[in-house]
Amino acid sequence: MKAIVIYNSKTGFTEKYAKWIAEALQCQSISIREKLPDLSEYDRIVFGSNVKAGKIAKLDYFRKNILPQNKQTVLFAVGVTPTDNPQAKALFKDNLTENELNTVKAFYLQGGISYEKLNFFEKKLMKMIGNSMLKKENATEQEKQMGKAMLTSFDNSSKESITPIIKSLREQEENLK
Ligand SMILES: Cc1cc2nc3c(=O)[nH]c(=O)nc-3n(C[C@H](O)[C@H](O)[C@H](O)COP(=O)(O)O)c2cc1C
Repeated sequence: MKAIVIYNSKTGFTEKYAKWIAEALQCQSISIREKLPDLSEYDRIVFGSNVKAGKIAKLDYFRKNILPQNKQTVLFAVGVTPTDNPQAKALFKDNLTENELNTVKAFYLQGGISYEKLNFFEKKLMKMIGNSMLKKENATEQEKQMGKAMLTSFDNSSKESITPIIKSLREQEENLK
């Protein structure tokens, strides 16, 4: 089964996950900034992108270049929100169509923030979101922690969190045998 991991990453977290997944599958990973190879040669395609303002970035690219291939497709999205947060849980329902939800295996992974790689406006926006979470009336302990975390760079990515993705791909492969 020939696989490929294609990713969109601005500050490196999605790229790091893409490389871990490619390493586990022993396949190639490429950025969407590179020229796409002929995807008809692959049996399964893993696509990863970051989350910006509640949206999975580059879904248009995913819909144009990857979905029409009708391959086994896995989508993973990387954001700063903790995995048990309601926003992370609702991410795919909010971003994908009913048909996509039924055909694409989707996984959310927590990345982090890398202030040194953000531009001026992105830095300002992140600080604003962090401060507004801290100042929110009746903020939960979780929101306070998150607000504080968002004011500095941090990395919550972990190699172990790709396990469900690899497991799902292996199960799909077994079912096809
Ligand atoms: C302008 C901006 C908006 C963001 N909005 C969200 C968001 O709505 N939800 C979220 O979980 N993370 C959000 N993030 C955080 C990124 O998704 C997070 O830093 C991720 O790890 C970046 O992945 P990358 O390094 O592959 O680009 C935002 C980051 C920026 C810069």
